[in-house]
Parts: sequence; C-alpha cells; structure tokens
Amino acid sequence: MFTANGDYLKLRGSYLFSTVARKQREYEASHPDRKVIKLSIGDVTLPIAPAITEAMHKAVDEMATAEGFHGYAPDLGYEFLRKAAADNDYKARGCDISPDEIFISDGAKGDCGNIQEIFSKECRVAVCDPVYPVYVDTNVMAGRAGTFNEQTETWSDLIYMPCTAENGFMPEIPSETPDIIYLCFPNNPTGGVITKDALQKWVDYANKVKAVIIYDAAYEAYISDASIPHSIYECEGARTCAIEIHSFSKNAGFTGVRLGYTVVPKDLKSGDVMLHSLWARRHGTKYNGAPYIIQRAGEAVYSEEGKKQLKEQVAYYMKNAAYILDGLKEAGYEVYGGKNAPYIWLKTPDGMSSWDFFDMLLERANVVGTPGSGFGPSGEHYFRLTAFGSYENTVAAVDRIKKMQ
Ligand code: MLT
Repeated sequence: MFTANGDYLKLRGSYLFSTVARKQREYEASHPDRKVIKLSIGDVTLPIAPAITEAMHKAVDEMATAEGFHGYAPDLGYEFLRKAAADNDYKARGCDISPDEIFISDGAKGDCGNIQEIFSKECRVAVCDPVYPVYVDTNVMAGRAGTFNEQTETWSDLIYMPCTAENGFMPEIPSETPDIIYLCFPNNPTGGVITKDALQKWVDYANKVKAVIIYDAAYEAYISDASIPHSIYECEGARTCAIEIHSFSKNAGFTGVRLGYTVVPKDLKSGDVMLHSLWARRHGTKYNGAPYIIQRAGEAVYSEEGKKQLKEQVAYYMKNAAYILDGLKEAGYEVYGGKNAPYIWLKTPDGMSSWDFFDMLLERANVVGTPGSGFGPSGEHYFRLTAFGSYENTVAAVDRIKKMQ
C-alpha cells in the first residue's frame, strides 16, 4: 500500500496566492455586476516589450529550419544567455561571477523552492517574518520545518527573523545560529530595501558561522537609489556564502513566459563539496532546460533596445507605486515600501486583522490585495498591494479605497 509524503500533509491550507485567487473568483461569481480590481499577486500586466517579442519571433523561425532547429537545451543554459547575464548583471556592477556559475531555469519560483534540496535535512533554516511563502512551504515539504504551532503560527524548527515597523522591516541577526538564511531584497512583501553596509554584515556573519545565504534578487530592477545593492555579490566575501536567484518575471514581464537563473559560485563549499556541483547534478537529472525560444527572449532583455524598453516598463509600474503610496497616505493609512520596490505594505486601520481587511476591501472597494498574515505572523495587521496593475486600474483602486473612508 502506498502512503503519501507526511511532510506534505503538514502544509497549512493552500498556497497563499491560490487562496486569494479562489476568494476573488467566488466573490466575482456571486457579484457579477461588480468590476473587481486585482492588486494581489505580483503579476505583471504590460505586454512583452517589442525587442523581446522580435527575438522570440526570430527564434521561432529558426526552429522551423533544419539549420536553426534546437532540441534539448544544454543542461545549464545556452552560453549566449549565461554570458549576457554575467556581463550585464554582474561584471557591469563589478561582481566576480562567471557564465559557468549561472544556471538558467524556467523561473525564480522553482529555483527558490528547489534549491533547499541540495542541503541536508538537518540544516536549520532562518526566514524573515513576513516572508515569501515559497521558502517556508518548500522546507515544510522537505521535512525541515518541524511542527506547526497554532498559537504562534510558527514552525518549531524554523528560525524567524521578525521584520516590523519597529526595526524598519530589516531582519536582525538571530540568536540561534542558522545554516541556511533566506533573504529577499528589495523585499517581498514589505517593499523594504537593504543598504550595502547592512548586507555586508549578513555576508560577514554567514561566512563566520558557515551558513549559506539564499538571496532572492527578483525585484532588483526596481532599485532606483544608487546606494542600494542590486546583487549580494557586490559585497566582499559573498562568493563563499551566497547563492543568488534572479527572475525575468518582474523586470521583463516573463510571468507567463518563464525564465530565471540561479548563481552558485564555485567557491561556495561545504567541506570539500562544491554546491555548484550538486546544483549542476540536480539540474542535469531533473531538468531539460528552458526552451531555446525563451532563452533567446532572455538574451534580448540585455540588448540596448531591450534595456531601454524595460526601463520604461519599470518606470510605468513605479508610477503606479507612487500613486498608491500618495493616495493611501492622503487617506490616512500608514504605508511602507513602494520606493525601490513594486510592493506597498500598509498597516490595516483600527487594528483590523489582515483577512478582515481583505474582506472589507473586496466587499466595499472591490479591490483584491494580499493579507499580510499570509506571509507570516509578523504580517498580521498588514496588507500588501502590488504596483503591477494597469495605471487606470491602479488609479481606480486607490480612488475606491479613499471613498471607503
Ligand atoms: C508575489 O505576488 O508574491 C509573487 O508574484 C509571487 C511569485 O513571484 O511567485
């Protein structure tokens, strides 16, 4: 008789964004006359930039010829894309990362979830609280989280690093020593950013205690302040303690196209074991590579024309962010983030729970956001809105929220 994986049975309810989407669907089904505006999941709305679709069309045509046909992609990604990423995302910023330390994948979410597989089950994991739920849930699935405490809404074996208004939404070095530390900057969900000095402290700490930092840089394109690091490898010593995960979803609108990459430097070792070799082994065994057409699209992200067009897209979303920030402030909300990040993190009014605020917003303003408590216990009494909607919808949503007063 087969038995199901007991670690999966420990998971709490459904995935946060699935729950939010289900609630929206149910509301729409029972209120067909209402136009609901979705500012919940961080899904982009602008069409793919022309420089990128041109590259995709060209690659499609190539695939239709005997000379241009491509079968399985190289395990770790095409050299043209790995080199473009190494040159533009690292070399141009003075970071020492070579193309063969870059592993192309079909998106950052999968990499964020899968990367824990190369670590032993005994590793202690530290997460920010609130946090992107994928880091927690995948460690639950892997049997690394222990048991769930209903009262505190925490997992017994995880180390939580609260990020609250009191500490400026910045995690502090935990009192228990972790083996794996997940950091995400610009932060999802709070929209907080980290200075280079503060990030350097994490790198120094990780090297000191021999921990690894899994650095999720999915939102780096939204940084406009020159003093904020785009990559953890801008910090000295990061090659021996950090893995970085990069997305094409948020900077280039690839949420439906799917492309990402993970950097595992060859200097990152556990004893004599190079994590690079383990991740390469995993990639080779479990994955057949992102499609050629999509990797050519990724290459176009780094073309001069591509960069120009994407800068405009980022500016469009940041105009939304500014509109939300200003509008909510005017309406008397306490708001955070939204400056070098596409997320706005707001305090719910009158101590309302995050889910009560979700229901109220849906019912009275017909706007869907994401309850802060879905990201962890310290997210309770907070709420996340994304800047990834259309400008028209963003304006309408903010105006409706203001009228709700
Ligand atoms: C989010 O809304 O937090 C993200 O869009 C989820 C993701 O990127 O998977």
